[in-house]
Amino acid sequence: MAAVRIHPAGALRGTLRVPPDKSLTHRALLLGAVSDGPVRVARPLESADTAATLGAIQSCAVRVDGDLGDEIVIHGVGLRGLRAPGRIDCGNSGTLMRLIMGILVGQRSGTVVLDGDASLSRRPMARVADPLRAAGAAISTAPGGLPPVEVTAGMPLTGTVHDLPVASAQVKSAALLAGLFAEGETVVSEPAPSRDHTERMLSAAGVSLTGEGLTRRLTGPVDGIQLPDLEVPGDFSSAAPFLAAGALIPGSEITLQGVNLNPARAGLLEVMRRMGADVSVASPRRVAGEPCGDIVVRGGAELVAASVEAPEGPSLIDELPLVALLGAHAQGVTVVTGAAELRVKETDRIATTSAALEGIGLRLAARPDGFTVEGPGTITGGRVDAAGDHRLAMLGAVAALASGTGVAIEDFACVAVSYPGFARDLATLGAAA
Ligand code: S3P
Repeated sequence: MAAVRIHPAGALRGTLRVPPDKSLTHRALLLGAVSDGPVRVARPLESADTAATLGAIQSCAVRVDGDLGDEIVIHGVGLRGLRAPGRIDCGNSGTLMRLIMGILVGQRSGTVVLDGDASLSRRPMARVADPLRAAGAAISTAPGGLPPVEVTAGMPLTGTVHDLPVASAQVKSAALLAGLFAEGETVVSEPAPSRDHTERMLSAAGVSLTGEGLTRRLTGPVDGIQLPDLEVPGDFSSAAPFLAAGALIPGSEITLQGVNLNPARAGLLEVMRRMGADVSVASPRRVAGEPCGDIVVRGGAELVAASVEAPEGPSLIDELPLVALLGAHAQGVTVVTGAAELRVKETDRIATTSAALEGIGLRLAARPDGFTVEGPGTITGGRVDAAGDHRLAMLGAVAALASGTGVAIEDFACVAVSYPGFARDLATLGAAA
């Protein structure tokens, strides 16, 4: 397919309601599916990733009325009521594959093979399979701990202490979900705070979760859960490209309405403030048990370099490619360390971000666990290969808007994994594709 060319923009101005949160939509679908009764979800995200999760629960004989993007009712079948299909195609979604493992291991019977696209087939699954096996689950992976993953339900599970080596919400969530079915106490500790949406939703669904700091505890087996009806707030990770573009382009003023500001997600705001960007939050409120608000970004401030170290990394893990671009524009050396997780995302995002910056006249020095970027440089324009990674497609678009001559983005269509209406929303702010 031909590359999509995005042209440099003048000031971006206007107000946007970014798409609903992807992480919350996955969790609402999965927890709604195993609730004791119907759950109404307003504004579930319509995207390739969340369509895969909807398809997954439907293939487990869960009825869902309505459409993603509008309002749905999930007719929950109870905690142990999923019917195991032979196979679930998880598409590009690591969140789906990893979280559903934690639910499938607790079902009464059946064997399910989980597979996905070429990108997902390269992503590590032993990080979930190992802790679930330690709790008694029967799971096998392809060599190297890769998909396809085969889960056989019906094994007795025992509460287990999991000392997770990586800060991953997906791994933490799978271990906690399996804990619902396990006899005794499940304890999950992580090395740094990752997003806690699963914990918040499980608590709202009536599960007693305790623990402090980086440790969560729950005692099983739990008889049943009932997720309350909810509305999905806006996705911080979909607001992030506009925050970066607004900060990079002088004269811009963009308001992003109703964005999830969970502190384990919104780390980019803090880093942008350290860089001197003009970002502020208005109308703080709570939606679906999550702190939300409107974010206003104004362009033109001189940016300075910033450092991002573990344990801050997980709070902006999906936004670090944008930090590279902001850093290339800022005075000084921006250093990101302790973020080796970037290597195992939809692409190796250290390698693909480096290639993207090189394609537009900038330079990033890769490290095993992050990168350094020296600025200020000029975004001349050129070519970016999204390489099937939706976050790279958005990075290319932001770079294009702030560039001298525009950017041709290969494989731009993969933006639909999380944000199918991205180009349309850019256009409403005055950008031209
Ligand atoms: C997600 C968690 C993060 C993030 C991903 C979505 C989630 O991955 O990168 O885009 O919804 O739990 P890890 O938990 O593996 O860091």
